[in-house]
Amino acid sequence: MICQYEHPPATLLVMVVLGIETSCDETAAAVVKDGNELLSNEVFSSMDLHKVYGGVVPEIAARSHIESIIPVIDQAVAPVGWDTIDGIAVTYGAGLGGSLLVGVMTAKTLAITKKKPLYAINHVEAHVYANFLTKTSLPAYSLPSSRPAFPLLALIVSGGHSQLVLFRNHFDYTLLGQTRDDAIGEAFDKVAKIVGLPYPGGPSIAEAAHLGDASKFKFPKAKLDHKYEYSFSGPKTAVLRQAQELIGEDYTFSSHLLSERLSEAQKNDIAASFQRVAVETVVDKAVLAFEEFKPESVVIAGGVAANQELRRQMSDRIPIKIHFTDPKLCTDNGAMVATLGCFKMKYNQPAADPYELQIEPNLSM
Ligand code: KG4
Ligand code: ZN
Repeated sequence: MICQYEHPPATLLVMVVLGIETSCDETAAAVVKDGNELLSNEVFSSMDLHKVYGGVVPEIAARSHIESIIPVIDQAVAPVGWDTIDGIAVTYGAGLGGSLLVGVMTAKTLAITKKKPLYAINHVEAHVYANFLTKTSLPAYSLPSSRPAFPLLALIVSGGHSQLVLFRNHFDYTLLGQTRDDAIGEAFDKVAKIVGLPYPGGPSIAEAAHLGDASKFKFPKAKLDHKYEYSFSGPKTAVLRQAQELIGEDYTFSSHLLSERLSEAQKNDIAASFQRVAVETVVDKAVLAFEEFKPESVVIAGGVAANQELRRQMSDRIPIKIHFTDPKLCTDNGAMVATLGCFKMKYNQPAADPYELQIEPNLSM
């Protein structure tokens, strides 16, 4: 069994970190104390500007970050004041280049002018750290009462990633497997587009699924040699073929004309059936990893972790209690970045050089 311990804090006993997140379409900043207490959390999403295009337009997202970043940071810092902030953490990858640049340039400038250490944060790793927040006096947050113990199995499911990661301790982790093609959130978004549900597709599919019959269609699960890898392109194509068949057309029928010929009931049944198989796909692998590695705790992270069907299936099939965080902390936010920043400070991880830090759009775990 992998040992379960935490290094004693080496320098500061209590630290307060400002987290800045701009990797996609959310301009976000938050302040976290000691890696467990959420002091502020501000998110401005440019999602409404992208809706008409059916997906995030990188240039529009970057411009929106430029307009919003200073007000968002000001609002996040206001309740505590700059003197209280011990360090700044910023997402430097993975993400959209133009979007990342805005957050990183702002954080570098603030680190230099406010004379604070700067921590470069991996966005995907940060998603997991949303689960370490256990306290807040902010209204409308429902947080777990204790933080996860190591070894920790993390199922990371977002618009850009589907991964299973085993954390032996902070900063000591192994990527067990990931998707070979689309991320699960991306598949939700694409299926929503096929059936004509609004962007972002994840919440739209989840809402439609409530009204549909999840056993109506049998979409296939990909069979892969690698125990912990996923594929979502097969089920997504199966949805397209099913929709074409339902309206009496074949595979040559254009996907963007489909939705207007599907009934509400057909859309709801497709949403429910797809959601069930997509969620089952990631939960199947999480169960296998749980049996193999016997972790002390299991968390789900990333935008799709807000999904109630995923929470239900994880609770039903993983034989330990899973503490889910507030759905608002599953989609992109600054709190997860600040939390990981706190742990970087606490465990003396190297700070970034604010004159040198560069973005890494393709950063992986
Ligand atoms: O983590 P996130 O905010 O951004 C990335 O890092 O990608 O995740 C966004 C993804 C989108 O694909 C969105 O459709 C999906 O998370 N999502 C959901 C739900 N809420 C957001 N998927 C399923 N059910 C939800 N309730
Ligand atoms: Zn994300």
